[in-house]
Amino acid sequence: MSREILTSESLRKYFEAKGPLGRAGGTLRAVDGIDFSISDNRVFALVGESGCGKSTVARLVLRLIAPTSGRVLFKGKDVLSFAGDELKAYRKSVQIIFQDPFASLNPRRTVYDTISEPLLIHSIVPKNRFRDRVVEILGTVGLGPETLNRYPHEFSGGQRQRICIARALSVSPEIIVADEPLSALDVSIQAQILNLLIDLKEKSRLSYLFISHDLRVVHYLSDEVGVMYLGRIVEHAKTEELFSKPFHPYTEVLLASAPKLKTEGERVRQAPLKGEVPSPVSIPPGCPFHPRCPRRFAPCDRIVPRFLESHGRLVSCHLWNPY
Ligand SMILES: Nc1ncnc2c1ncn2[C@@H]1O[C@H](COP(=O)(O)OP(=O)(O)OP(=O)(O)O)[C@@H](O)[C@H]1O
Ligand code: SF4
Ligand SMILES: [Mg+2]
Repeated sequence: MSREILTSESLRKYFEAKGPLGRAGGTLRAVDGIDFSISDNRVFALVGESGCGKSTVARLVLRLIAPTSGRVLFKGKDVLSFAGDELKAYRKSVQIIFQDPFASLNPRRTVYDTISEPLLIHSIVPKNRFRDRVVEILGTVGLGPETLNRYPHEFSGGQRQRICIARALSVSPEIIVADEPLSALDVSIQAQILNLLIDLKEKSRLSYLFISHDLRVVHYLSDEVGVMYLGRIVEHAKTEELFSKPFHPYTEVLLASAPKLKTEGERVRQAPLKGEVPSPVSIPPGCPFHPRCPRRFAPCDRIVPRFLESHGRLVSCHLWNPY
């Protein structure tokens, strides 16, 4: 039986946009009503172009910012209700891996300091066992004990990301929020870190909220995908189904412009994504994707499509849902 670990319910985060000369510039709808649920040992991926709200979802989940409305639930409980020991336990259960491993490591702290700090904060093992535990965790990410007294600048990008993963793992989390964890790494290193994340998922029964704009990675790693556009999920499907037949025109164009999906000699099904993403301060009327949609038709610039189930997946498009 799968257990729900993390749930997002109608999650919204609006910011006050700054206009010229510091004047109020309107409401920026960074996250505009997002629902998903991640079960035990499952990977849910959020994909979408820059600025669509992916990292804002991550920050809401981590309780670094409070939602404008809606809720994040951890095993059925609103994370905003957590205080004291319950909040501490939540901070332990949900860990983050960021895009830039260099920026997220303190340059003046050794590997030992970095990984032992969470052990101390969360009283994971007695102090006299710290060294053994740190060596053990380093082993799980493929680093040897000789790295213990080294500083971040002495490592390659891939090794630094391994240190960040080790730090996240040190407290035995239940879910890891990974915000573009591969995009700062050399392509040759990305596959190694990706395989490490998959290995750890199997060994430790981890779940991931995996944020990426790289569809090849998402295809490889995730069980389900939410495709985001201007703060909303426009298609939510099982990964295999989404990649074998995208329903939403935005998903279609995203897939068509992803490099690896074009096998040699195969023509792309759609032209690559054209035009700029509109500003989340002035979201287009009707379907927010209509100004860029190659399939738009009569109702698209007037009527907002509903996000409904169609043929076993959720999609917001008039082509799939009656309006
Ligand atoms: N603290 C903030 N104040 C005002 N606007 C913000 C704030 N944080 C994010 N935004 C805006 O919210 C929108 C979503 O940003 P977010 O960082 O979540 O996007 P993203 O999908 O992670 O993009 P990327 O792929 O570039 O990382 C953007 O328009 C961004 O400028
Ligand atoms: S509702 Fe219309 S504009 Fe929006 S994605 Fe569907 S076809 Fe395109
Ligand atoms: Mg981001």
